[in-house]
Amino acid sequence: MENEYYYNETVTRFYDAVYDSFPILKAGSEFYLDEIKNTDGKVLEAGVGTGRIFLPALKGGADIFGVDYSENMLAKLKEKLPAKDHYRVWAEDIRRFDAGRSFKLVISPFRVFQHLLTIDDQLAALNSIYNVLDDGGRLIFDVFNPDLKRLTNPVENILEFDGEYLAGHKLQRFASVNYDHIIQQMDLKFKFIWEEDGLEKTDTFSTPLRYYFRYELENLVGRTKFKIENIYGSFKREELNNNSNEQILVLRK
Ligand SMILES: C[S@@+](CC[C@H](N)C(=O)[O-])C[C@H]1O[C@@H](n2cnc3c(N)ncnc32)[C@H](O)[C@@H]1O
Repeated sequence: MENEYYYNETVTRFYDAVYDSFPILKAGSEFYLDEIKNTDGKVLEAGVGTGRIFLPALKGGADIFGVDYSENMLAKLKEKLPAKDHYRVWAEDIRRFDAGRSFKLVISPFRVFQHLLTIDDQLAALNSIYNVLDDGGRLIFDVFNPDLKRLTNPVENILEFDGEYLAGHKLQRFASVNYDHIIQQMDLKFKFIWEEDGLEKTDTFSTPLRYYFRYELENLVGRTKFKIENIYGSFKREELNNNSNEQILVLRK
């Protein structure tokens, strides 16, 4: 499946090593695993990635499925998934998919919706997810709550991760971010430097990410058949406020 911003081999390869160390992701996975545990029925992770949430949920007994448009991310996930469960994950673009099954809960954790750059793409994803939900089913996804100070301060080559990807093998990830406030996009660029076979290697990955404001999200959802049940400001289910890092939308069919 072709996509301009397709997760490349390098970002996929180091995804787990980098993100296992980020506290906000840990809080997010506890939140989503809790929602999955409290769901009696099938669950779909839309933008399943390398299975950060999918795999522990499956291990915990959830009847969970996953789709992603990145073949690289799916291959990484399948390395960790017993062959008997491979049928549970497949390649789909969430803007135009029909899973052929219906779900009680669809989750789209960790900024998947920020990859949807245009209003048409956002509505297409919301509508295709709506169509695979059971009546009364829910969609939960998170996007960051824009921090106005950060939006006015582009960064260049900030060291975000300095560790190892395997015991004794160093990895660093640097991030550069530029903003365009007219199209509400940040241009995110990662530079990876790692040790392999006694050599220092380097590669980059770039992607635009859409940022969203609260009333924009409410208006967007208002153009679909979903009802907004909650917008949390944190994975502890706190109300959205001026210090919130997250906007977590809970939508009901
Ligand atoms: C930041 S990762 C999050 C992965 C996983 N949900 C997690 O929490 O670790 C975003 C994922 O969304 C996927 N993605 C982005 N846009 C998508 C689309 N239109 N259809 C399917 N997958 C998409 C990417 O390929 C990537 O795997």
